Amino acid sequence: MAFHWASFALVLLLIASGVLMTRLTPGSADGFMLYQLHKSLGVALLLLTTARIVRRSALRRSADGMQAPTALAQAVHVALYIALVAVPIIGWGLVSASPFAIPTTLFGWVTWPHLPMPTDLDPASRARIAEALSRAHAVLAYAFVTLVLLHAIAAIRGGRPTLARMVPGLRRRSPSE
Ligand code: HEM
Ligand code: HEM
Repeated sequence: MAFHWASFALVLLLIASGVLMTRLTPGSADGFMLYQLHKSLGVALLLLTTARIVRRSALRRSADGMQAPTALAQAVHVALYIALVAVPIIGWGLVSASPFAIPTTLFGWVTWPHLPMPTDLDPASRARIAEALSRAHAVLAYAFVTLVLLHAIAAIRGGRPTLARMVPGLRRRSPSE
């Protein structure tokens, strides 16, 4: 549950910083800081999601008498997990492929490595790969927003029994328990 709401906060910050930074004047100091913040938050989300998936596979959650999610809700959850992993990995790939080779410093503190790239790639090929990954990153990030909206609408429409699975306060007062 804490993982769920921490991921939600991180995704909101990532979308806001991603949209803002790509619309600032290229090369500005604020832009550089925002890119570093965006990359730091994205790597934090990737690590958090890895921990969440490991924990989820280790502890098969019991249904606790609660109604199981529908097949459609489960399919949306799988798609959300895929987006939570794929969007940051593609972002990581694009900064690693970029011929500018700008380092990623997590929260101004530790250097995050670039993904290994073939050593024989010339700068023009690196730029083409980075450009393709950048497009994929943007398209998938906006598809992710759509998916989150559908998921949130479904959770709200499911009412208290559905929301209680992620909002502990509702769970205690749920009439079904
Ligand atoms: C779930 C995690 C993430 C989300 C939701 C996200 C979202 C976004 C969004 C909405 C944009 C703006 C796209 C546009 O309008 O052009 C963007 C751009 C960008 N993101 Fe992410 N991002 C995530 C993770 C990451 C990570 C982990 C990195 C790198 C380590 C990263 C690096 C970048 C870069 C460099 C750009 C600018 C691309 C360009 O303009 O060429 N992102 N991101
Ligand atoms: C970035 C935003 C979000 C992401 C990435 C996300 C992701 C997820 C995932 C992956 C699950 C499945 C958990 C599991 O069983 O392993 C889940 C469940 C759930 N989420 Fe979200 N979520 C987000 C936002 C929201 C919002 C805004 C709400 C409330 C309006 C919400 C309400 C719920 C509820 C109630 C469940 C459990 C019930 C169910 O649908 O079966 N989520 N979420």
